[in-house]
Amino acid sequence: MRTDTGQVFRLEDYRPSDYLIPKTSLTFRLHPDATVVTADLTIARRPGADRHSPLILDGDDLVLKAISIDGALLPASAYQATPDQLIVASPPDAPTFRLRLETEVSPSANSALMGLFRTNGAYCTQCEAEGFRRITYFLDRPDILSVYTVRIEAPKREAPLLLSNGNRQETGELADGWHFAVWHDPFPKPSYLFALVAGDLGAMHDMFTTASGRRVELGIYVEHGKEPFAAYAMDALKRSMRWDEEVYGCEYDLDVFNIVAVSDFNMGAMENKGLNIFNDKYVLADEETATDADFANIEAIIAHEYFHNWTGNRITCRDWFQLCLKEGLTVFRDHEFSADQRSRPVKRIAEVRTLRAHQFPEDQGPLAHPVRPRRYREINNFYTATVYEKGSEVVRMIRTILGPEGFRQGMDLYFQRHDGQAATIEDFLKAFEDASGRDLQQFALWYHQAGTPNLSISTAHDAAKREFVVEIEQSVPPTPSEARKRMMHIPLAFGLVGRDGKDFEHGPVEGADVENGVIHVRKRRHVVRFAGIAERPALSLNRGFSAPITLTVEQKPEDLFFLARHDSDAFSRWQAYNSLLTDALVAARKQAAFAAKLADLAGVIAGDASLEHAFRALALALPGEADIAREMARDIDPDAIFERREALARMIAQSNEAAFREHYAALAFQGRFRPDAASAGRRALRNTLLDYLAPLPGGAELASRHFVDATNMTDRAAALTVLVHRHGETNEAKAALAAFEERHGANPLTMDKWLMIQATAPGAATLDKVKTLTRHPGFTMSNPNRVRALIGTFATANQTAFNRPDGAGYDFFAGVVLEIEPRNPQLAARLATALRSWRSLEPVRRAKAREALQRIAGSDDLSADLRDIVERTLA
Ligand code: ARG
Ligand code: ZN
Repeated sequence: MRTDTGQVFRLEDYRPSDYLIPKTSLTFRLHPDATVVTADLTIARRPGADRHSPLILDGDDLVLKAISIDGALLPASAYQATPDQLIVASPPDAPTFRLRLETEVSPSANSALMGLFRTNGAYCTQCEAEGFRRITYFLDRPDILSVYTVRIEAPKREAPLLLSNGNRQETGELADGWHFAVWHDPFPKPSYLFALVAGDLGAMHDMFTTASGRRVELGIYVEHGKEPFAAYAMDALKRSMRWDEEVYGCEYDLDVFNIVAVSDFNMGAMENKGLNIFNDKYVLADEETATDADFANIEAIIAHEYFHNWTGNRITCRDWFQLCLKEGLTVFRDHEFSADQRSRPVKRIAEVRTLRAHQFPEDQGPLAHPVRPRRYREINNFYTATVYEKGSEVVRMIRTILGPEGFRQGMDLYFQRHDGQAATIEDFLKAFEDASGRDLQQFALWYHQAGTPNLSISTAHDAAKREFVVEIEQSVPPTPSEARKRMMHIPLAFGLVGRDGKDFEHGPVEGADVENGVIHVRKRRHVVRFAGIAERPALSLNRGFSAPITLTVEQKPEDLFFLARHDSDAFSRWQAYNSLLTDALVAARKQAAFAAKLADLAGVIAGDASLEHAFRALALALPGEADIAREMARDIDPDAIFERREALARMIAQSNEAAFREHYAALAFQGRFRPDAASAGRRALRNTLLDYLAPLPGGAELASRHFVDATNMTDRAAALTVLVHRHGETNEAKAALAAFEERHGANPLTMDKWLMIQATAPGAATLDKVKTLTRHPGFTMSNPNRVRALIGTFATANQTAFNRPDGAGYDFFAGVVLEIEPRNPQLAARLATALRSWRSLEPVRRAKAREALQRIAGSDDLSADLRDIVERTLA
């Protein structure tokens, strides 16, 4: 593990490397404790670089065994090797030379899961962002593109399967029961895309023929016996490959595409060229073990990693400040893929809920940073909701501004110009500017400025003048190290909705550029006048969530009630109802009439057969406790929020009881399980209704029957959640937990749900439950999925227990973070972000949370990862 050097990396310090590595040959002689890596690097001086500059290669925890240049061993005086660096003071003056290095690494001792490590007896790598330097000394930066040839040697019995990037060139037998394989990847790539897998794994094979007729062998590798669980992932892969051809004209470029599922992984998955490596949670699924949400995630992540082949691999990032160049764009692409495969409005609502739940608090707290950061201490801490999700929203806005055709032309130009290169955000924007003739200068602030912009809006209608006036005031809140902000270009989609539910056709507009239903907000203040509006319309704003902003709108509740039923934009219909619910919860509108109208509307939505089931389920789901907290912004008391939310849920359920029971019964389904969006939507609505009915008389029995009758994991997990969260002390809940464990005890991924459900049970007592569960035989601190399921969920999704006023939740959490940190700093740092909103708590909890953070910050020898997070959080 690298300890913190305190070094800060800055965008403005970027300089191209003096040396390039056009070719990389690697040989791995695999051994659990002593793998020998031989790197044969063809090194070239960059044209124009200083001839006297030393060659400085990155390392991390490396032991150098041998070094030679052009076949001659290097004398000790000619180089300097530490675990973190290799310096050759005066390399040969030739245009190219061969540097041969031998390093030794211990995969089994690698608990950080970066570089070469072991998982379930197999060898596996993770190199993004800076893991390659834990394998050999290298110019470990994304602008060094190299052609790789990789030879893997291993005992055949232990590792019959030997995989790396590209195409397999050669295989053969060696002495003593060993064998080897040679892989060659013709596409120059940065070191972070290197991958190796070796072990004894089962496989599912398939075939894909690309648009131009290239036959591609597809393989998904999993633990023996799990092969059937890869069927859905394989199907998602083929759909992704087709979609990228149809929508972006992007074809796959190698003869094989392999995916390996491993059970120890820090992140979701990794897009290594031709050899994607996945957290098995995002590969393995069937109805018995995975929920509909799991199926949707698998589809999205398989697509995401596959799409990186063009946005990330063929065109990569010049430096890590440009991370959003590949991540924001690829998230946008996977969002659009899922929207096309499923229901567009439902997908959009789900995306916005996720953005608000994860990115908004990040942008509004101490860890806020621009989509393209300008400085970092540890790059692993910048794989954030801002870079990924807000980065995707920024790309979506480009499409809104340019229109679908202009957007596609810009993408085509980007691919054409930068294929094979390491590019920047400036390059990306330039492609759109050149393709469309538009100026995106002001728009570019979305990449450079942190913080969630707000638009404050009021309206007036002048019947005599037939004029509708919309006043817009823009503000961008200050964020760490950015006190003053410039005004952004915000594309605000809108509609002026008349009493018949149709949008008014307006006359000429003054005060802002308005085109295709979008107001282009560019200044601090706009007074936008729409001519030719005879009647006061209901104003529908930020349709489709056209910009990732907050709105403060002076709006009559009756307009929101109207829009919730009649807006032609489905997202805005959901938003209108959601805003009303939020109002009721935040402002605690006590007027019985308001609450009664809300409950009525819930009944209408639940039974409206013209709406998709999934849409109804999303609309009926109340804003989460964290959503309410975010709206309240300060002096948060999670117990009070919990109470209010429960009260509203109960009121809605009581006033719709008969109808909800009827819909619930009607949604029961006997047919064969299907994971598609429509079937999932039906289950979602039924399970949402179950949640409403659960606190009413007979609720425990109803949930218990739901549990027993469940024929799939979605329904079983939903019922278990209701039982454990609402009737935790009953025999029904205890019996269901035991039955679940009995049935799924052998499957750790499914048992993660069992852990999560218990970790999120509301109330102070859950803390002790979680402590007990850390000693459950199925739990271990050394597997990231287990840690995230029990500890991560507890800290991020259990507002009342984690935020116990006595601080015991924080205290326990700090202890766990410190326990994990020496073993896996990246995981510890990621967990610790759960404390980022500590300042918005009420004073008692705030003080306790600060103590926990200070306790972490005060421990010795913290990794760069964790120190960076706690210090920024406390700053
Ligand atoms: N590039 C991966 C993705 O598709 C994420 C890998 C991040 N890994 C890390 N150690 N920071 O999103
Ligand atoms: Zn990605």
